[in-house]
Amino acid sequence: MRVLVIHGPNLNLLGERQPEIYGTQTLEEINEYLRAQARELGIEIECVQYNGEGAIIDAIHDARNRYEGIVINPGAYSHYSHAIADAIASIRIPVVEAHLSNIAARDQHRRISVTAAACSGSVSGFGARSYALALRAVKELQGK
Ligand code: DQA
Repeated sequence: MRVLVIHGPNLNLLGERQPEIYGTQTLEEINEYLRAQARELGIEIECVQYNGEGAIIDAIHDARNRYEGIVINPGAYSHYSHAIADAIASIRIPVVEAHLSNIAARDQHRRISVTAAACSGSVSGFGARSYALALRAVKELQGK
């Protein structure tokens, strides 16, 4: 089983970006942790990061025939990108959203995720573990 992990804008700066909110782990350290978690779950993952909305949409389209699921953190796009939400709604494989911070407990404009509404579900607030839990959810949704 193959799952694509998509990290959205500004997540390439994890480690130096607002560590009081997002922690001190770099994106590569998070990906290493996720690869270990995936091995335990018996799934294969590929991790990508894009700052641009179009690149994220292309990645979602391309994944639909190559992967059995997607874990996505759309970053700030979560709060307003109806284009990414439409891309997610356009494909059949399960998509689970992950956020490092608990967006429900943050500024008003971060409390709504329009992209999460198009996903099978979302996990928020557990740091890198949010992604690991989302991977587990994708596996269960695929009945594997
Ligand atoms: C984030 C939450 C978003 O509001 C923010 O814009 C991010 C990171 C998270 O993982 O907590 O870039 O998606």
